Amino acid sequence: MRGPRRRYLAELGIPVWSLRHPPAAAGEKAAETPANVADTPANAAPVDADDAWSALRREVEACTRCALARGRTQTVFGVGRRDASLMVVGEAPGAEEDRQGEPFVGPAGQLLNAMLRAIGFARGDVYIANVLKCRPPHNRDPRPEEAVACSAYLDRQIELVRPRAMLAVGRISAQWLLQTDRPVGRLRGVVHRYGERGIPLVVTYHPAYLLRTPAAKAKSWQDLCMLVELLVPNETSRADR
Ligand code: URA
Repeated sequence: MRGPRRRYLAELGIPVWSLRHPPAAAGEKAAETPANVADTPANAAPVDADDAWSALRREVEACTRCALARGRTQTVFGVGRRDASLMVVGEAPGAEEDRQGEPFVGPAGQLLNAMLRAIGFARGDVYIANVLKCRPPHNRDPRPEEAVACSAYLDRQIELVRPRAMLAVGRISAQWLLQTDRPVGRLRGVVHRYGERGIPLVVTYHPAYLLRTPAAKAKSWQDLCMLVELLVPNETSRADR
C-alpha cells in the first residue's frame, strides 16, 4: 500500500490491511483498479441516456408526492459519474445538503469521501444518491410512506447507472434496499444481491455514525475491502453489463 492511501486510513483511524490485488508499480501495466476502470471510454453511457437523466431530474425537482416537498429548500437529486461502477446510497439530505442541493456535503460527506479515497475512488468516480430526495425536518428518520413515495426515483437512478456494485451506508438505506428490518450490524459483513439484476450490495455503517463511534471504523474498513474485491476482477465494458 502506497503513502497516500496509508495516510487516508490513518485519517480514518483504521488499521492498514493489504488488498489481494495491489495496484501495479510505476512502469507496469496498470491493474484494473476501480478508479481507473471507471475512466475507460468503453464505459461511456449512450447519448440518449442524457435525455433520461434530464427527464428524471426535472421530475424530482417538481415532485410533490409527499409532505417533505413543502419544507425543502431544494431537492437533492444525486451526484457523480452516470456510468459509475460503484453506487453509494445514503439515507436523506441533511441541512447542508438541502442548502447546497448535493448529497453528502456536510461532515459525514467528508468522511464518506475519505472512505472512498481509501479504496481508490475519488468522489467523482462513483455515483452518490439517497433514498429520499428531500430533507426530513430536524433530520428525523424518513417515514416508510416517504421512502415509498420517493422509491421510483432511486430505482430509476440505479437502472440508469447500472453499477457493478452498491454500497448502502447506514440502517435506513440498507433496510430499504434489502427490504428487511435487521440491524446494520447483522447486515454488514456479507455480500447481498439487489434487484432483478442481482447487483452485489455491501452494507456498512453510516459515516455520521462512524463520526460518533470511531471504534466502528475498523468494521467499516472490512466492509470496504470486501466491496473493492467485488470491483477489481473481470472489469468489462458497459456493453457486457
Ligand atoms: N446523510 C445521508 O444519508 N445523506 C446525505 O446526503 C447526507 C447525510
